[in-house]
Amino acid sequence: MEYHVKDLSLAESGKLRIEWAERSMPVLRLIKERFQAEKPLSGVVLAACLHVTTETASLVHTLAAGGAEVYVCASNPLSTQDDVAAALVSDGFHVFAIKGEDTETYYKHINACLDVKPHITMDDGADLVGTIHSTRQDLVANIIGGTEETTTGVIRLKSMAAKGVLLFPVIAVNDSNTKHFFDNRYGTGQSTIDGVLRATNRLVAGSWFVVSGYGWCGRGVASRAAGMGARVIVTEVDPLRALEAAMDGYTVMPMGEAAPLGDFFCTVTGDTSVIRKEHFELMKDGAIVCNSGHFNVEIDIPALESMSVGRKIIRDFVEEFTVADGRRIILLGEGRLINLAAAEGHPSSVMDMSFANQALASEHLVKLGKGLSKQVHRLPEKLDNEIARLKLESMGIKIDTLTEEQAHYLASWEMGT
Ligand code: NAI
Repeated sequence: MEYHVKDLSLAESGKLRIEWAERSMPVLRLIKERFQAEKPLSGVVLAACLHVTTETASLVHTLAAGGAEVYVCASNPLSTQDDVAAALVSDGFHVFAIKGEDTETYYKHINACLDVKPHITMDDGADLVGTIHSTRQDLVANIIGGTEETTTGVIRLKSMAAKGVLLFPVIAVNDSNTKHFFDNRYGTGQSTIDGVLRATNRLVAGSWFVVSGYGWCGRGVASRAAGMGARVIVTEVDPLRALEAAMDGYTVMPMGEAAPLGDFFCTVTGDTSVIRKEHFELMKDGAIVCNSGHFNVEIDIPALESMSVGRKIIRDFVEEFTVADGRRIILLGEGRLINLAAAEGHPSSVMDMSFANQALASEHLVKLGKGLSKQVHRLPEKLDNEIARLKLESMGIKIDTLTEEQAHYLASWEMGT
């Protein structure tokens, strides 16, 4: 299989949207220009399992400019933008991704990217690494290392490393400050609300909006919902995060108490069965439930299905379940990441930093890969800070620099008394 996409005739519209995204990705553009001149990824075969969006296309072009041969598959069955997949194929890339693909096709596509014996794996949710470790260990000898984009993937990889079963080094791009501070918070914050609005066109102002999980993503979703006039409730399991949410001004309570109040529910925990039968039983007629965490396990959909006497799709990404007592519960985007299912994922400007990290992580692996231990590593702080510096510069923002006296003062313990 050279490629498998929905419809090659979509390529032109995909190209226009990719060009639009690239205009907001100045840091990645600078890296691309340097890669073009230096070719640091020359001869490298790279398998990328990412959400196939316009920003991912920009990353793919950057990696190719560096000399890599790139193969792309989706990191979620519902997140592929079919016009982008078509545009990448028309630019000569090998893409295996179709929006709405079933589980069997999803894994067929992952395996198609592995069949090419990659030197580098680039994951968003650790599906390439997971597949290699469970069924394709023959590929390990050829692999320099991997990179991982998201919190859930990093958690899985750290657990593999702790158990001593991780077979090659992986750079946790998510752990870079220029990734999770911005992408998870502002990117997920804005695009999750965007997904809810595009799917439902409901008014957020004045509603009760329940956010489960007050991590990097949850902080963003809560602040954007509040910014639109929602009354935000946060549910948490971590006392520190719950305290932070309370002091940020949100109402904090267990899901059992939030369930009868919420008009909207959004899970962003990376956990499983956060909203389950006992909660559905308490919800109002017409409550809208969605997820923006990585996997579609945060909402117990089988429980909702088993409680329901009827279900119908009302509009794209909006499915109504009627439970025995006549209440209707609305599930968005099949419980998959709503920002990618019903909207377009994070805005390009924030993916600029995330994917600058991915590009530099690939370069770092090629430089050091076999020298890195089989652990989960962070991208060196120097590179992380450099991305922040370039981003500020691209935004036309200047900051102060330490004077000699200040640098000396901050480095000494004798001064200042
Ligand atoms: P995080 O670790 O910073 O936050 C997760 C929070 O959820 C923690 O505070 C944790 O205490 C809380 N939590 C865990 N179980 C809970 C439960 N049962 N009830 C209430 N709270 C609970 O993680 P981060 O970075 O916010 O990521 C969250 C999820 O979103 C992950 O699956 C991550 O991969 C995904 N993600 C999705 C993106 C998107 O585009 N939609 C972008 C980035 C990350």
